[in-house]
Amino acid sequence: MENLSSNKIRILPPQIYTRIAAGEVVERPYNVIKELVENSIDACADRIVIEIFSSGKKLIRVIDNGCGMSKEDLLLAVKPHATSKISIFEDIYNLSTLGFRGEALSSIVNVSKTKMISKLKNNPYGSQIVVYGGELISVSECASNDGTYVEVKDLFYNTPARLKFLKSDYTEKIHIIRTIEEYAIGYKNIEFKFYSDGELIFSAIKTDKLIERLKEVLKKDIVNRLIYFEHKDTSINTYGFISPIEIAQVNKSLQIFFVNQRPVTSRNISQMLYDSYRDSLPTGRHPIGIIFIEISPEMIDVNVHPTKRIVKFKDETYIYETLKNVVRKELKKYLSFSKEFMVNLQDEPQQQLSVKTKNIIEYKIYDLLQETTDSFYKDSDKKVSLQKEGSVLKENQFYYLDDSKISQKNIEEKLGFKNFTYLGQLHKTYLLLETQNGLVLIDQHAASERIMFEKFINIKNISIQKLLFPLNIELKLSDFEAIKPYIDLINQVGFEITISGKSSLGFYGIPSIVNINDVRDFISRFVESLISDIKEDINKQVSSKEKIIRSACRAAIKASDILTLEDVEKIISELSSCEYPFSCPHGRPTILNLDISYIEKLFLRRK
Ligand SMILES: Nc1ncnc2c1ncn2[C@@H]1O[C@H](COP(=O)(O)OP(=O)(O)OP(=O)(O)O)[C@@H](O)[C@H]1O
Ligand SMILES: [Mg+2]
Repeated sequence: MENLSSNKIRILPPQIYTRIAAGEVVERPYNVIKELVENSIDACADRIVIEIFSSGKKLIRVIDNGCGMSKEDLLLAVKPHATSKISIFEDIYNLSTLGFRGEALSSIVNVSKTKMISKLKNNPYGSQIVVYGGELISVSECASNDGTYVEVKDLFYNTPARLKFLKSDYTEKIHIIRTIEEYAIGYKNIEFKFYSDGELIFSAIKTDKLIERLKEVLKKDIVNRLIYFEHKDTSINTYGFISPIEIAQVNKSLQIFFVNQRPVTSRNISQMLYDSYRDSLPTGRHPIGIIFIEISPEMIDVNVHPTKRIVKFKDETYIYETLKNVVRKELKKYLSFSKEFMVNLQDEPQQQLSVKTKNIIEYKIYDLLQETTDSFYKDSDKKVSLQKEGSVLKENQFYYLDDSKISQKNIEEKLGFKNFTYLGQLHKTYLLLETQNGLVLIDQHAASERIMFEKFINIKNISIQKLLFPLNIELKLSDFEAIKPYIDLINQVGFEITISGKSSLGFYGIPSIVNINDVRDFISRFVESLISDIKEDINKQVSSKEKIIRSACRAAIKASDILTLEDVEKIISELSSCEYPFSCPHGRPTILNLDISYIEKLFLRRK
């Protein structure tokens, strides 16, 4: 950096500082839509129409039937720090509106060519202003409907550096749709219509029922399975929907939170969700939580982030605890039939190990006391009959895999351990193997994914398993748009699918290689996983075909399976034949090797 002391301090002219400030509020087209939609909501509109061309890069229009503005207000609205929503600072602790900073419109008009038309209900005609790059071009009166029309053309035309940072039309459009979906969920009493490049792609009519709105926005079959919760006390009113464990998602996109109807991201609330489902979700799965919190405005600070997406609660712990209690209560009610789940949902944390794991360790210690370690490995008399249905350990039993089916040489060369004894399964997720050097843990799902992935990749023509009854999968619009460009490729890897409606896919066949029982479950998991992959990998260099295959593999592997010994044998043997056995196609490790010396260090037996 240059020597600052040689520079003189100067105050930047408004043309510069307003453009810099605009960057904070308006980074991408979806930010413009968010701000304009919020203004329409604050203006008490009950109908909002959003139109975009070229994913908002060329044109964004937001039209509402709200209270409108006079000509004077219209001229003021585009000035920096102009707002009708607060007048003294303390007002921000008593907000009933989404906006309050008075900087959204001024930021937008500074980096675009904007036209606004607005009409108050009692005025015979409206007014129009045109502002290019912050400069007022024209003001006039005109015929207009009640409400406000905002047209934002050529976003960032005067800030080319920012223009360069925009992502592909595909990505920007998906961000926009997600923004609209979020407000549509938060404001069921408002009718939304959304057009992209002249085509109506989303509409939701007004309703009093949240569930109805959710059905419009999200996948219908998911919504029907959600669990409703509500709780009201003197400090908080909260309600919403959470998911039963079976429909936990592969990403967090259905964790949607509103605080006083403001969509927010909150680590605290998200953490509360994970903690409420403690231990019950398989690794890599995320609970759904569509959560509304209504709380006295004095109890929150919304002025902590330029885009107002984060709120600070005065008492974060109270929010966390209250919500957690409500969510857990509802989960318990829902799942009271499932004993296993109940064990995990004890009110107070119990011992860290599940009953099964504890047994393994107890019996193991018992055995070690009786046997020398050496004879324990080698004594063939200790072989017990193989239990075929599952690997749950019973008293004093260990399970020896049939060595003849497994190439020890392959295992040693490829996986790096030898002479192992299979101890059992931990949390229906990890295979525990005792080896000469210590303990090996294999993530059975990651390993199975790797195995299937390599089979997929190595087959030239993947054969299709035709479905007896074609299946229709409805998607929320942003997911549908995300997956649409991949349809041809999906059909190249053993699927047979077509677009079968505004936002649904028809499945006629699936790759025979996946070999699953529940086709519907497989398909929805595949779609979910692929969407998540597409999102995460937007900037990564993984080929699209690979993304599809690894999603199919992930979907085909069911979470939390009790494995038979044959299954375990097969996994170890097939894994040792893989080219890249140490990670799953998504990059998670498959094998963990805990050296005995490391374990001894943990127990302070060694330094
Ligand atoms: N669609 C609209 N209908 C009626 N009035 C509007 C509309 N959009 C903006 N306004 C008026 O213009 C003012 C400025 O809008 P702007 O979005 O810039 O600031 P804000 O909403 O007050 O605060 P924030 O910057 O936090 O959004 C608002 O306070 C409101 O009075
Ligand atoms: Mg605003």
